Amino acid sequence: MLQPPQLLHILKPPTRSRKTVRIASIMINYNLATTAATMTLLNMPRIGMGTLGLLPSEASPVINQALSMGYRLFDCAPVYFNEMEIGDAFHEATSGVPRSDVFLTSKLAGPFHRPEHVEPALRKTLHDLRIGYLDLFLIHWPVAFQYVDFDPTVRGWPNEDIDDSDNGKRIDPTVSIRDTWTGEVTILCLLPILFYLISYLILHPNNPQLQTKSIAMEKLVDDGLVKHIGVANFPVILLHDMLSYARIPPAVNQVEIHPYNQQSHLLDYCHTHNIAVQAYSPLGSPGYKESAEPEVLSDPVLIEIANKHRISVAQLCILWSLQRRCHVIAKSANKQHMEENLLVHHRYEFATTTTCEDDSTNAPTAGTTISILSVQEMERIASLDRGYRFFRPEDWWTENPVPVFH
Ligand SMILES: NC(=O)c1ccc[n+]([C@@H]2O[C@H](COP(=O)([O-])OP(=O)(O)OC[C@H]3O[C@@H](n4cnc5c(N)ncnc54)[C@H](OP(=O)(O)O)[C@@H]3O)[C@@H](O)[C@H]2O)c1
Repeated sequence: MLQPPQLLHILKPPTRSRKTVRIASIMINYNLATTAATMTLLNMPRIGMGTLGLLPSEASPVINQALSMGYRLFDCAPVYFNEMEIGDAFHEATSGVPRSDVFLTSKLAGPFHRPEHVEPALRKTLHDLRIGYLDLFLIHWPVAFQYVDFDPTVRGWPNEDIDDSDNGKRIDPTVSIRDTWTGEVTILCLLPILFYLISYLILHPNNPQLQTKSIAMEKLVDDGLVKHIGVANFPVILLHDMLSYARIPPAVNQVEIHPYNQQSHLLDYCHTHNIAVQAYSPLGSPGYKESAEPEVLSDPVLIEIANKHRISVAQLCILWSLQRRCHVIAKSANKQHMEENLLVHHRYEFATTTTCEDDSTNAPTAGTTISILSVQEMERIASLDRGYRFFRPEDWWTENPVPVFH
């Protein structure tokens, strides 16, 4: 595990002074200066690079390309089975971007929902990504699986067991979201711990290190291992329940949002409760979807509106999400697509900065909407909603269905 002083040098060649790095970075991409204008209170960039389906061999060129273009948020997960290569790519990146300018997200996989497994799972991701902290750590899905053992000293995963629910048979219904979030355990579970503590006290009455420790997502923030915690794929009712007990409320809900799955009620609920919404699969996940499934990017209404604005349909989808006050994560390993996606963010941001009188302090907040797409265009896109999801747990967990969204 890297020690904190070394971490400061990740993404930052030691030969360059801070000033040189700063000037070079600003020259390379104006995004550095302007991204701040569209950051929220989390300091979370409004657009990020997805890594689902990013081949390990693509990690280095894509991360380098993305950093020098101006991407500052990267969305990772252990179940994408490329965190080790992404970590190496950041470590060896030549862009000169300091770690503190990059927002790194990862996620807690299903087998690690028990409170005692949360921190080891996070540390494994930190080890794979070669960093000392995450900016955001999300519960990937609101469903626990049976534990899968792993060697914390080995980087990467030897196989894909952590993503294998055995058609749902490995779902563990005894672990609640509250367990995973707070680490609170029932009094029965505490009995062995109490027994241990009492014996320890008797044997070591003066030991100053003796203390009880809560363990789980919230504790990771207390310990500085992650800056923010959040969730993914959570419907309103689970968020509503969480807010009744969370000492640290979820900062983010990362969910599937595109014109065919708009989730307006969820969006309203999150915004009302200061939970940032990150739209995943904003383009309708053309790389993941089955060929027979609908193609968002070929929708005639979207094509017509995109043509009118002289942007691509992919750009329109991103713009539409931004205008709905979502954060957006689009995956691309293609330089032209990467540029295109970032450019539309700049365009939105330009509208933001020219509409607001001041600088980043006037970034869009709850209640503020910056419009590039007209009300009529937003209404036309709203009419395309069909609640169509490309990520359907009921299709994966067929033997023990937990249809999360129904
Ligand atoms: N929390 C979760 O459960 C969850 C689930 C799914 C996804 N995610 C996250 O969200 C990210 C994005 O979602 P996603 O990867 O499913 O779907 P997406 O971003 O909607 O689509 C990615 C696909 O679109 C293509 N593409 C990208 N930009 C394009 C453009 N400008 N024009 C045309 N095609 C373009 C990409 O191909 P090229 O590479 O060739 O550009 C890739 O095949 C994921 O990578 C992951 O980080 C999270």
